[in-house]
Amino acid sequence: MNQFKKTILITGGAGFIGSHLVRLFVNKYPEYKIVNLDKLTYAGNLDNLKDIEGRSNYEFVKGDICNQTELQKIFSDHKIDNVIHLAAESHVDRSISNPLEFVQTNVIGTVNLLNTAKNNWNIESSENIFYHVSTDEVYGSLGEEGLFLETTPYDPRSPYSASKASSDHFVRAYQETYGLNIKISNCSNNYGSHQFPEKLIPLIINNILNKKPLPIYGKGDNVRDWLHVVDHAEAIDLIFHQGKIGETFNIGGHNERKNIEIVKLLIDLVDEKLNRDKGESLNLITYVKDRAGHDQRYAIDAEKLKTNLGWTPRYTVEQGIEKTVEWYLNNMEWVENIVSGDYLNYYENQYVDR
Ligand code: NAD
Ligand code: TYD
Repeated sequence: MNQFKKTILITGGAGFIGSHLVRLFVNKYPEYKIVNLDKLTYAGNLDNLKDIEGRSNYEFVKGDICNQTELQKIFSDHKIDNVIHLAAESHVDRSISNPLEFVQTNVIGTVNLLNTAKNNWNIESSENIFYHVSTDEVYGSLGEEGLFLETTPYDPRSPYSASKASSDHFVRAYQETYGLNIKISNCSNNYGSHQFPEKLIPLIINNILNKKPLPIYGKGDNVRDWLHVVDHAEAIDLIFHQGKIGETFNIGGHNERKNIEIVKLLIDLVDEKLNRDKGESLNLITYVKDRAGHDQRYAIDAEKLKTNLGWTPRYTVEQGIEKTVEWYLNNMEWVENIVSGDYLNYYENQYVDR
């Protein structure tokens, strides 16, 4: 007999958000078995989970969500009864250079996982939940006013957001067509520890540390709605346990900032913590060629999550970013292990001619 109350497959658990979610679940729910399935692409890193490696309610499986045979074996071997799906290609700039890879992982991989869940579960049972983690980028780009609601029509504009929108549609289609019990959340931009330094905040911290140019796309006036990754993980926990089956929840913290404001905040914090002169790194700011099809503004209305489930974020941007800067300064080795080989090639291709 299975000693665990639930056996949850978390996909993409070696990535940025996935590793925070796996840690939260392994620590908070000793009665659950957490199986972390990750292909360990450039973005996956088992160092992110060193602190929980040997736990009896945790197991890592290296595998690919695009491989149906592997997925079936994992479901059979572990008797998976719930899925929280995060595995994805997640970086917009990479999706612009290689859209097909995003279709493969984000669309085909998600449909494979849906098929495996449908084929292995009793569709009638509310004990089997397929929770799909998605992004606010599926809603498109906002002007100066307005917020994304759960009812905002989809209008994806980058290959990344188009692939995530497609995966969301498939998840809903599996509920309508086959009766699979699904939940979806669409979250705003995350930041925090263990984020791969291709994304804005860790890239800028790393470049300030190394006195390298700070690349700002366009005018730096694009707006993102920032949420600390721990707030996101806690919202997923709440929705997984208490959200109504079939519902979608937006997750965001009303923390809109222009990119240039975020970069200046990071400069202030890093310069102060390194005992540099105030504003010393401002001269590293470098305006570069804009991203193709760069979405102007994202902003989430998370009222439904607040009203229905009582969720509010713990961190303001200022608190969360300070904590994040401290983590990167105290964990330079983590960054150094990543910032080599493939990353340098990527960096060269992405930034040298901008
Ligand atoms: P990430 O790129 O840091 O991690 C993705 C993980 O998925 C990596 O560990 C990678 O190895 C794994 N993976 C990739 N392809 C795989 C495959 N074929 N099979 C198995 N594993 C595979 O991404 P993240 O920022 O942690 O995002 C996680 C999820 O959250 C994604 O679905 C993303 O769309 C969504 N999301 C991210 C943000 C954000 O700001 N980062 C915001 C909202 C939603
Ligand atoms: P990013 O972290 O890639 O997240 P997303 O594109 O999913 O929102 O980028 C956040 C914002 O920062 C976005 O408007 C693009 C901008 N940006 C830069 O200006 N320079 C950079 O080097 C990067 C990576 C992003």
